Amino acid sequence: MLNGKKIVIGVTGGIAIYKVVDLVSKLRKHGAEVRVVMTEHAAKFVSPLLFSEISGHKCAISMWDGRDEFNVEHVALANWGDLILVAPATANILAKMACGLADDLLSTVLLAASCHKIVCPAMNTGMYENEATRENLKTLSRRGINVMEPACGQLACGTSGPGRLPEVPEIISYLERFIALREGDMRGLKVLVTAAGTREPIDPVRYVGNRSSGKMGYSVARQALLRGAEVALVTGPSALTPPPYAKVINVETTQQMLEACLNVYSDVDIVIKAAAVADFKPRAVADQKIKKINPGEGMTILMDQNPDILKTLGSMKKQQFLVGFAAETQNLLENAANKVKKKNLDMIVANDVSLKGAGFNTDTNIVKFLYPDGTVESLEILSKDTVASILLDRVLEKRKKALTL
Ligand code: PMT
Repeated sequence: MLNGKKIVIGVTGGIAIYKVVDLVSKLRKHGAEVRVVMTEHAAKFVSPLLFSEISGHKCAISMWDGRDEFNVEHVALANWGDLILVAPATANILAKMACGLADDLLSTVLLAASCHKIVCPAMNTGMYENEATRENLKTLSRRGINVMEPACGQLACGTSGPGRLPEVPEIISYLERFIALREGDMRGLKVLVTAAGTREPIDPVRYVGNRSSGKMGYSVARQALLRGAEVALVTGPSALTPPPYAKVINVETTQQMLEACLNVYSDVDIVIKAAAVADFKPRAVADQKIKKINPGEGMTILMDQNPDILKTLGSMKKQQFLVGFAAETQNLLENAANKVKKKNLDMIVANDVSLKGAGFNTDTNIVKFLYPDGTVESLEILSKDTVASILLDRVLEKRKKALTL
């Protein structure tokens, strides 16, 4: 999303400026072209030379180019950028923006520019919570300027509270999401993704589960978000951090996953069920931890069949494009094709989980896409993010075709 984007970074005089040096570097690594405009106060914290070197363009500060001539080229930055991000945005620049003041290069560029603008307020908590700043931020929001909320925590002035500049990865995620929501090919689409394994309790400390880490499902959710979709991620227990901007619904058992899916199902356009669902659950859950048995004695746990979530969704299908996964250890194509029919799917992603580099808890997968008309597409070994991205390409193609029929 950031590749090829022209971004103007407006830097004002705050202690968090050190993070912005890294931000400029990371944006360039993501393929963005970056120009930096600093205020004179900002230049007291960090040398403009550093920003010039890191951005690959001369950092602009003044309206005057040193020979008492008006620097039209610098003001032209207002028309150059696809978006302007002000970070850190001090209370002072927010006040100037709200009033329409243009008394230095950055405030002039901001007033002249018609592109998207994002501000990242970073200041002392008292200044941030001051009614004047609150009013200024409301004014800016009302005018369509986007405000990235500051983080809470210890501030340089010794106080603690809201006012910290968010960390660089969070700012990058915010920018990616901002662009995805405006340009992504899945914007406007609602996607339900399930991930990780469900667990069925045996007693208060033990459960029946499986080896799913959530990596495959989280990759699908992340890629859909990067393409502008609204994503509900119904996830079993996982050690992974969910992708930013997903609506995360944590569940443990198959029954809970079924209920969470049914709660959102009527409203979604696409369902991708990457979760490894426990097919069986113990008939009775012991109230207390089950004690050890004598050596040589066996133990029986009677299991009942769990509901088949995907089959249930398939039987209620209306506008939803339904994608299942099939985890197989033998007869991959035959078993997966049966699931397409039995569960009324539009597509299935079959993975032979006995192959090295495929299936559970790996960073890669080896999959085949199967469709109701019997066609099969085989992919080589790829990262789970790449598999997810190609999967979404196919979902969009097939869904478009189905909608135009
Ligand atoms: O999470 P990772 O470690 O990255 O591993 C990824 C994965 C191997 C879990 C993933 O790629 C995968 O194959 N997920 C599906 C696992 C599975 O449960 O397969 P299945 O063949 O048993 O089920 C077929 C489909 O029906 C699946 O979409 C499953 O979510 C769904 N199902 C199954 C049983 C059930 N009771 N309800 C269901 O909805």
